[in-house]
Amino acid sequence: MIVISVVHQKGGVGKSTISQALATGLDGQTRIYDADHQGTTSRWVERRQEDGVDKPELAVGRIEQLPDLISQAENEGVNWFIIDTPPEHSGEVNLRTALSVADFAVMPTRAGANDVQVLPKTMRIARQIGVPFSVVMNEYDGRRSLHKQVLADLEDMATRNGQTVLRPLRSLAAHQDSTYAAQTAIEYAPSSDAARDMILLTREVTQITRGEQ
Ligand SMILES: Nc1ncnc2c1ncn2[C@@H]1O[C@H](COP(=O)(O)OP(=O)(O)OP(=O)(O)O)[C@@H](O)[C@H]1O
Ligand SMILES: [Mg+2]
Repeated sequence: MIVISVVHQKGGVGKSTISQALATGLDGQTRIYDADHQGTTSRWVERRQEDGVDKPELAVGRIEQLPDLISQAENEGVNWFIIDTPPEHSGEVNLRTALSVADFAVMPTRAGANDVQVLPKTMRIARQIGVPFSVVMNEYDGRRSLHKQVLADLEDMATRNGQTVLRPLRSLAAHQDSTYAAQTAIEYAPSSDAARDMILLTREVTQITRGEQ
């Protein structure tokens, strides 16, 4: 089983959107844990269950129980355990806990100065803990020179540190619209660009975590 934590100390950068997309899009049995008291992802899974959709499963428990929830999932044959985390104002402890149990972390960021400036701090914590990670730029607009510059800077930083930057995700309505139907873009609009971006992200994460890159 592979444990993936989706982290960034800033709010609203796409942690839940990406956690949910990975938990539905990765091959095999998946289980998701919502470390955020806002409960966005828990509610999203519960709504899916009401609709008769059983992927992903929901891991329920307090954050201190995370190691036990992970062992239990492993014993039950789960292939991927995804952890959606809260932004910093909920306390750095959750971030550290989520990183310390992870095999790999995905760090979404947007191009905004506040989002990008906080990222090195999140990266430092991941490095201290020793968990490999990849950054992904969310709501990327390749026509904007600022976005291209931020992406290039992230790639530089990643190269220097032996990490990777995943293909960026564009800003596309299907990511948001799909949540109203308790789905992901891949399910809601399978032939959309949003679905395509998420399929590529899922594929990249699979390759990296299986050591194929
Ligand atoms: N690539 C995208 N294109 C369009 N909308 C997006 C994209 N990514 C995320 N969103 C939307 O942006 C909002 C914030 O995303 P999300 O909830 O995933 O962020 P978060 O990091 O989990 O936020 P929080 O820190 O509050 O938990 C949501 O409404 C989501 O649907
Ligand atoms: Mg969230």
